[in-house]
Amino acid sequence: MERRELVTLLVGTLAGLIGSPSLLAQTARAQSAGSIPSPTPVNVLEFEPLARQRLSRMAYDYLSQGAADEITLRRNREAFDAIRLKPRVLVDVSRVDTRLDLLGQKLDFPILLAPTGGQRLMHPGAEPETARGAHAAGVTMVVSTGSTTRIEDIARAAPARLWFQLYVNRDRAVTRDLVQRSEAAGSRVLCITVDTPVIPIRDREKRWGMQSLYAGQPTDPANRQSPIYTHALDPTVTWETIAWIRSFAKTPIVLKGILAPEDARRAADEGLAGVIVSNHGARNLDTTPATIEALPSVVAAVAGRITILLDGGVRRGTDVLKAIALGARAVLIGRPYLWGLAVEGAAGVQRVVEILRGELEAAMALSGVPRLEQINRQALWPDR
Ligand code: FNR
Repeated sequence: MERRELVTLLVGTLAGLIGSPSLLAQTARAQSAGSIPSPTPVNVLEFEPLARQRLSRMAYDYLSQGAADEITLRRNREAFDAIRLKPRVLVDVSRVDTRLDLLGQKLDFPILLAPTGGQRLMHPGAEPETARGAHAAGVTMVVSTGSTTRIEDIARAAPARLWFQLYVNRDRAVTRDLVQRSEAAGSRVLCITVDTPVIPIRDREKRWGMQSLYAGQPTDPANRQSPIYTHALDPTVTWETIAWIRSFAKTPIVLKGILAPEDARRAADEGLAGVIVSNHGARNLDTTPATIEALPSVVAAVAGRITILLDGGVRRGTDVLKAIALGARAVLIGRPYLWGLAVEGAAGVQRVVEILRGELEAAMALSGVPRLEQINRQALWPDR
């Protein structure tokens, strides 16, 4: 059967079932125009090949790469896929409520944009374009230290809600200045990335000679010019550094890049507001677990004392539901909104978020858990 015939048949069947005059009219229009669905992406993953077409090979590799053999990159997805859902039926799902309180802020749904550097590689409008998309979609944007636009200019571009992601600078005066500038620009949460003390092994970046961007700087002579060090990353950061930042930061602090339950417990002991269970989108240390695999023991270790978020491989509304069922308060997405940005700028960012949000609503309704706070392990098939 021709694809067009199949579409007409399906739409016609639906219209017949529901008896909707407008759907019937649409079907008739579609038939007479001989139209078939446009190649507009219907899910987040479908943005990826479109982004690939638009980007240079180097930009595409920078965006999509994982560390080394990309074992964890694949695992971030496979682990989500391996979890099965346990839908409950005959629940009134006429209203699906995805709202939540997150670190003192009211969010309409539990998805944020993860910090990503170098957005000018993806779109000439760079971070301001993302901010416009974030504002349109009502999603919080975490602005990276590696942004190609000053945070003041990102904040001016759109009234999106912003958090700031910090890479601690070797120069502590610069570090303090970054934090204070982000606060002045309206950042609500300081997200300190703690999983990148040195340059990771990223073969695709190496092939393009991209690592010379960082490594071209003098390395520490005491470290025999090892290629892993760079001026852009401070390998001396410890819990003491975090306590120092906490002494002057005015917003809540979350640590990004936690996998070990011991580190999560320490974060709670140190009085931090939360942690992001993350393996940096599988871009740093290969062969770690998927984040969704690491999540349950982190949740158990902090025993509700601090807020837990998760990123890495979230591509479907069902992934968001699974993360929340295992104890995350919200999730962040990285590559998906960059695909949207590459494909159609702010509108693409907005579309990616709206698709995921819609899928989450469908997953909740079809699982029989219409309110976010009802989601727990009972929503998962109990074979784990
Ligand atoms: C990142 N990530 C990242 N993290 C961070 O703390 N600071 C940064 O500057 C960047 N830059 C960056 C660039 C690009 C191109 C990517 C893809 C990722 C990691 C990011 O915040 C997040 O942890 C992952 O992207 C989440 O995984 P997914 O959703 O991309 O699978």
